[in-house]
Amino acid sequence: MDRRIVAGNWKMNTTLREGVVLAEQLSQLVNRIPAGVEVIVAPPFTHLTEVRRALNPRIMLGAQDCSSRAQGAFTGDVSAEMLKDCGVEWVILGHSERRQYHGDDTPTLREKLGRVASVGLKPIFCVGEPENIRAQGQQNAWDWVAGQLKLLRGLGDSVLRELIVAYEPIWAIGTGKTATPEDAGWMCLRITRWLTSEIGEIGGMVPVLYGGSCNAANAKEIFSQPGVSGGLIGGASLKPEEFVSIACSF
Ligand code: PGA
Repeated sequence: MDRRIVAGNWKMNTTLREGVVLAEQLSQLVNRIPAGVEVIVAPPFTHLTEVRRALNPRIMLGAQDCSSRAQGAFTGDVSAEMLKDCGVEWVILGHSERRQYHGDDTPTLREKLGRVASVGLKPIFCVGEPENIRAQGQQNAWDWVAGQLKLLRGLGDSVLRELIVAYEPIWAIGTGKTATPEDAGWMCLRITRWLTSEIGEIGGMVPVLYGGSCNAANAKEIFSQPGVSGGLIGGASLKPEEFVSIACSF
């Protein structure tokens, strides 16, 4: 896998002003990142337009979710088309925090993937097992992840070509507990194998990122694992120096 990708998920952090400052700081540092590394940041919805203005064009804009509906009476929702209009390229879907707190189940995620695809946005689809499943061993963790991946079977080639999968074990997100580089690599490779056998050659080309307490100290070892194309970074993406240092860890 020759793509190298670092995506920052800001979650529900920063005021608008802080978000713009963060975008400006990242833009000043971005030249340190080796050419060819794809860099994405996903700020809160309210910041998208201003952050886009502040970002060096080398950094792509992402959103953290989108509505499963196209438009209409869905109070509080933000549609894929609205995101596209703000200059968003990527949309994180299926993050465990959305699955846990907002009921993003399989049918909802299928709808969301369809919406994203219909307006030409690119999904970053998250999968990952909870702690109790991981405690039952690697095979159980894999079975869980494979269950989540099934949703990707129906996607058309145009979406698959732009898809990123992020393996984020839930017990590692925001906890400071990271999967061992070997476990992260094993799972990412397994995902690629599954995508190849279930979807075909195009599935095997999909980059697979690791996410979960990834930081400047552990990124190099994780990214060096075969099968890992980079990281989806939460907490550490709020610190510009650290995020850039992670992006330099290939
Ligand atoms: P974390 O979050 O890096 O803070 O663990 C990762 C994520 O949820 O995308």
